[in-house]
Amino acid sequence: MYRKILKIKRCEGAGKESYYEKYEVSFENPKETLSGVLLKLSEENITEKDPEHEYRPLFWEHSCLQKKCGACAMVINGEPGMACDTFLNDIEEDIIEVEPLRKFPVIKDLYVDRSFMTESLKDLEVWLNEEALNTGEKIVYEASRCIQCGLCLEICPNYCVDGIFRGMAAMTQLSFVMAKMKKEEGKEMRKNYRKYVYEGCGKSLACRNVCPAGVDIENLLVRSNAAAVWNRWNSYIERNEEK
Ligand code: FES
Repeated sequence: MYRKILKIKRCEGAGKESYYEKYEVSFENPKETLSGVLLKLSEENITEKDPEHEYRPLFWEHSCLQKKCGACAMVINGEPGMACDTFLNDIEEDIIEVEPLRKFPVIKDLYVDRSFMTESLKDLEVWLNEEALNTGEKIVYEASRCIQCGLCLEICPNYCVDGIFRGMAAMTQLSFVMAKMKKEEGKEMRKNYRKYVYEGCGKSLACRNVCPAGVDIENLLVRSNAAAVWNRWNSYIERNEEK
């Protein structure tokens, strides 16, 4: 049997004060994940062990539990990560601190409001008017792998709430749509890319290290910058099609 202590930041709702609760968890599976124990915590009343607070089910987002949907993004021992891709025995410390993403408003406990990302796509008019099949082009394939979890915004030193920079989550979608457009169709989109992505990105590439989908952000950024900023549209598309 393995044991860990989870120190979870909890909050009963927007504007309410946060506090930490500690839970001692034991598990037999050597590959137990953080999401596995959080699921148990959301279902069972174990707060008898912590009489300071009344029992309240833990709120957090999850769906696939396979690192595919982006829902379970949170901050784990100070680092952005996915609960379903965090194996408890890979963590050396006995106490694991779990917090909600810090760049998004907290709704409850570990559950945050990430609507900023979808609102950004609406603001930037990032959509196509016809069905866009993924035909295997390198750029389109790479951009489509983004799961919109928000870890890239969490780690980014340039992204801040209410700022103009929309972060790499928007960059991937802009890149996808730009690659599907003809040059003459994409003028407004390239303008948005310059204003809301290129001008705000400090190229720290911290996002590259936390992307759970392993999107080749650097390559995508270089190619999209070439197309939208340096007007190397033909080269972007031609090189894209060569892959
Ligand atoms: S629950 Fe889908 S990525 Fe973790």
